[in-house]
Parts: sequence; C-alpha cells; structure tokens
Amino acid sequence: MAITEATREQMQQLAARYPQPRSALLPMLHLVQSVEGEVTTDGIEACADVLSITPAEVKAVSTFYTMYKRKPVGKHHIGVCINTLCGLLGGDAVYDALSERLGVGHDQPTADGEFWLERIECQAACTHAPVMTVDWEFMDDVTPTSAVDIVDRLARGEQVASTRGPVIRDFRATEHTLAFPLDGLADEGNPVDAKMLAGLAVAKERGMSAPTSTKEG
Ligand code: FES
Repeated sequence: MAITEATREQMQQLAARYPQPRSALLPMLHLVQSVEGEVTTDGIEACADVLSITPAEVKAVSTFYTMYKRKPVGKHHIGVCINTLCGLLGGDAVYDALSERLGVGHDQPTADGEFWLERIECQAACTHAPVMTVDWEFMDDVTPTSAVDIVDRLARGEQVASTRGPVIRDFRATEHTLAFPLDGLADEGNPVDAKMLAGLAVAKERGMSAPTSTKEG
C-alpha cells in the first residue's frame, strides 16, 4: 500500500513538532509501520521527501534501530527478553517454547502473518523477569506455559490484557501510539507496583538519599 496524502499530512504534523524537522524521523518511521506494517521503500521515500533529507539517510536510521522492520511484522509482535536477569530466570526457556509453538526463529514472521517473534534486550522491567512483550505491552513473570497460552489465546482471537492493564490491540495500533503518544493511551493501566518500588521503600526506611553532585574543575 502506498503512503497516502493523509499519512503525509501526519508526517508534516510530526515534523512541525521539532525545531529541527529531521528530529521527527523516529516517530515518522513508527507512523510508516502503523500504516504499512513495516518500513517500506514508499515509506522511506515519503519520510525523506517531507524532511528534505536523502532516502539513504532514512534507511540508515531505519536499519540501525531494531524496532523498525523491513519485512511485514504481521498482526502481533512477540518479544522475549533474553538479557541477563530474564535469561537466568527462564527467558531462554520462554523463547524456546514460543519458537517451537510458532515454528519460527529470531526476528521472523509466521507464515500466516499472525505473529513475529523476536529476542529482545532488557526492557527495564527486570523486577518482573522473565518478561515477554506483546505489541510492546508487558507480560510480566511469564513461564513457558503461560507464554504459549497467551499466544494461543491471541491466535483464537480472544481478548488478552497485559499484566499491567492495557488490552492488547495489534502491532499497527501500537506503532500509531508510538508515533502519536498523546492519544491518551500511553499511561493506560498501572505501570508501577510495590515490587518495582521496593528499593525506594528500603531507602526511605533507612533515611538514605542520593549523593549531591559536585562540580570538578
Ligand atoms: S533483563 Fe529482561 S527486562 Fe531487564
């Protein structure tokens, strides 16, 4: 699908947010993924045109960051954190179970276009390791069994909610929120719980505080 005039207008809106229009490239690429399901050549050319930069510059950015894909992601993006804490607490086993269930490996789509599986890096959610994401919404404290169950429910078209509240939509919808985070959904759910604040609670109990910074030179 080609980039429409309406999408180009949204790109202009994004570019107008910044003193330097090219700063809008990252949200513009999310916008492209929200309408195309991937970063297409048409999308790259439209970004370059709106920002008055070269397609090569857009391509360089889109191939540097792993959240941008040059193949159709499909309906749902499934991420499994395999960094140290998640890996040690079962993330590798979660990834292996999902890889077997979906029949695909790292950074690959399923043949039916329903899922994309990816090993992902630390999501700053280590408190609830091992962590899986569905369309970048958190699924905390997963096990191989619960992770496969989430995918099975999505495959059956059932409503699935993140462990932090938001109902899973789909990859394209999330990409639109990443382009336009002021859609009212960015703070949906309950992103902070007592487990995440345990360190802060201990620091308060013990009267601890951060050292004040000192200037050198
Ligand atoms: S190591 Fe997985 S979220 Fe930090």
